[in-house]
Parts: sequence; structure tokens; C-alpha cells
Amino acid sequence: MKVLGIESSCDETACAIVEDGKTIISNVVATQIPFHKIYKGVVPEIASRKHAEWILPVVKQALKEANMTLDQVDAIAATNRPGLMGSLLVGFTFGKTLAWSLNKPFIAVNHMLGHLYAAHLVNDIQYPYIGLLVSGGHSIICKVNNFDDLEILGTTVDDSVGEAFDKVAKFYGLGYPGGVIIDNLSKNGDAKAASFPVPKLDGDEHRYDMSFSGLKTAVIHQCDQFWNTGYEHSTENMCAAFQETACKTLVSRLWRAVDDTGLKTVVAGGGVAANSRLRQLLAERPDVNCVFPPLKLCGDNGAMIAGVAYHFLQRGDRTPFNATACARIPQFKRGLKH
Ligand code: KG4
Ligand code: ZN
Repeated sequence: MKVLGIESSCDETACAIVEDGKTIISNVVATQIPFHKIYKGVVPEIASRKHAEWILPVVKQALKEANMTLDQVDAIAATNRPGLMGSLLVGFTFGKTLAWSLNKPFIAVNHMLGHLYAAHLVNDIQYPYIGLLVSGGHSIICKVNNFDDLEILGTTVDDSVGEAFDKVAKFYGLGYPGGVIIDNLSKNGDAKAASFPVPKLDGDEHRYDMSFSGLKTAVIHQCDQFWNTGYEHSTENMCAAFQETACKTLVSRLWRAVDDTGLKTVVAGGGVAANSRLRQLLAERPDVNCVFPPLKLCGDNGAMIAGVAYHFLQRGDRTPFNATACARIPQFKRGLKH
């Protein structure tokens, strides 16, 4: 079964064709980064307009690279949540229209299920396991029972980890998107140069929760207070110390989830799963098998959407054509309870 998957939740217009949830036949990602870079962040209005302009050429390109026609596609899938509403509506409405006009099955896909599935495209992974979803909009630790069954254990209570990377980079004028830039600068820095405060969330209900806004504020507004003596106050050192604290926050909660559940497989997904320090830290536990998607499948792409849609289709699910998009999933981002 060949599924055409469309992704347009943020600033990449993407389409892929995947066979049987496993074989990527084509995978086209058109990034809008150059258009948002001058504003140092994603401008939702520009994002929606670029999606509207690019969606048809991107889908055509995916078919061309697969050497296929639309007749040879068995089903269409598109991201419907969470994300920027205007952006989501472009890809989702395009996907629904394509499926309706071709009389093919249609599946709406939750973007975060897609990120989690990215590692499955290139690995055989058994359920259940612990999921670590780290992107520009989310930070989630969950128990994953099946491709569509996540038990949320912890989330950020404020900013996501990717947002903290992006905001720190924006404040220091390092460029956009900030994650990969900070990751690269950190390679020439010393994480011990500064000791940023590690967020503390008390109480059992926050056992797996994370917070990144205090860290972001400390790095941006109070950096001078946290330098250790004898270290140069360089951008590289600041980046390395920030990255270390952010990654250790994630990893400490993740190990709690692993130890409490006894599940020894971790699957990571989302843009921040590309982070080199996070990958190193997760490799430090020989008793835990940590699976990452390849770098090019960490960020947004259509292959992860087509891949997860295959499993819905196999189960007989179909999304009705009156379904719509949705910007947020409340359970993926909890507020502080007190
Ligand atoms: O999954 P993604 O492409 O889009 C969302 O669903 O949000 O994630 C984008 C996020 C951005 O915050 C970006 O800065 C971050 O992933 N990112 C990284 C790295 N590469 C991308 N963060 C840390 N280290 C990286 N190497
Ligand atoms: Zn994403």
C-alpha cells in the first residue's frame, strides 16, 4: 500500500510517498527558513501563504521523484494537529480535496504521532516503550503502547525545549532556527563554563514534567550571574552550558520514566532529537536501547505522516471529509497545577 503523506504544520511544506509504512519512495521537504530568517522566527501569515504557493509543486515533485502518478497512490494522509492553524489548514484541506476528488481513503495524522513514527521508518521497534518527543512546540515524555496510543507521563509546564534553543539564539543574534546553530557552537565551547539553574518541579504530579522558561530567562537576562571563574565569557561557552542544562533536564526526567516503568527502550523524535549532546547523553546508559530517527527525519517531513497513516488504514480507519484542523492538544502541554 502506497500512501502519500502531506505535512504543513509549521514552516516546511512537505510531501512523501511511503510503501507499507516502511519504504520511503520519495520525500520532498521545501523549507521556508529563508523567508522567516529575517524576522528571527516563524511568521504565521507568511508560513500559510508559502504553503498555499508551494503545496502543489511539492506534491508534484514527490510524485515525480517516486516516478508515480496519482492513480498509483492508494491513500492520502495529512497532518491535522497540532501546529499553526493557517499552515495546517493548507496541507490538510489540500489532502482532503485530493482524496475526495480521487475517491481514495483519507487519514488525518497527529503531527506528534508522526514524529514518534519517524524512527520506525528505519528501525523495527517493539511496543511498549518510552517516547521522548522534543520539538519547537512540545516536550513530552510518554509511554507508547501502540502507534496511536500514548500515555502522557510528563510535558513541559511552560516553554518547549526547542523554543528555549530558538529564543536564546534569537536574543544573542545567532540565527534562526537556533537549535542546530547552538548545537554547532557548543562543540567549541565548555559546558562547565557556566552553571545555569536547574528547574525544580516539586510533587509527584510533576515527577516527569519539565520547565525551560526559567533556564531561557537565566541565559538571556542573567547570564553574568552564572559564569564560573576562570572561563572565557564566550558565545560558544554560553551555548555549551545552556545546551548541557537543557539536555540534562530532559534526560533526568526520561531516566525516571525508564526506571519507574522498567521499559528499556526509548524512542526519540522531533527537531531537537537531532541534538548531538542529547544523543551522547542518551547513549550513556548501556542498559537502555535509545532509538533516534536519522537526522533528516528528525525535523518535519511527509514520510512520518504517510508512515503512521498506513497503520490507521490497516486497522480500517478512515477520516471523514468534514474533519478539520486543530492548533493545540491540551494534554500535550500542561499548565502548572498550582
Ligand atoms: O520538529 P520540528 O522540526 O518542528 C516542530 O514540530 O516544532 O522542530 C523544530 C525545533 C526547533 O526549535 C529547532 O531549533 C530544533 O527543533 N532543532 C534543534 C536541533 N535541530 C533542530 N534543537 C537542538 N539541537 C539541534 N541540533
Ligand atoms: Zn515537528
